[in-house]
Amino acid sequence: MMYKDLYRMASEMVPRAYAPFSKFKVGAALLSADGQVFTGCNVENSSFGATICAERTAFVKAISEGTMEFEAIAIVSSEGEAWPCGICRQFMKEFCDGDFKIITGDDEDSLKVYTMDEILPEGFRL
Ligand code: THU
Repeated sequence: MMYKDLYRMASEMVPRAYAPFSKFKVGAALLSADGQVFTGCNVENSSFGATICAERTAFVKAISEGTMEFEAIAIVSSEGEAWPCGICRQFMKEFCDGDFKIITGDDEDSLKVYTMDEILPEGFRL
C-alpha cells in the first residue's frame, strides 16, 4: 500500500464527516500491519466534548474488529493538511510503536510523513 493510496482513501472520507458545528471535516485511513485499511471521519455532537476525531474513529473501528497492530495513518481535512490533536496523539500512542507513520498534506503530491516518536516525543504509556 503506497502512502498516496492511503491518503486518497482518507480524502474520500472527508464528505462523510459530521461537522455541523466546526465545519472542519476530517477523514482518516489507518493501515494495519496485515494490510487492512480502516477508515474514519470526525463525528461532532451538540455537547461539543462528546465529539470524536477521525483518527480515533478509525482506531476504534479497527480495534473493535480485532486488529491491534498498525503501520500508518493518513489524515486529510476539508482544508487540506490536518495534524492529529493532542488527545489523538495520546490515543494512538497506546497502540503504535515509535516508527508508526502519520501522513498528511494539502494534496497527494505533497505528502508530509512523520513518526509517532516525532509527533509525541517521550509519550506516556503505563
Ligand atoms: N478533528 C479531527 O477529526 N482530527 C484532528 O486531529 C483534529 C480535529 C476534528 C474534531 C472536530 O470535529 C473538528 O475537527 C474541529 O476541531
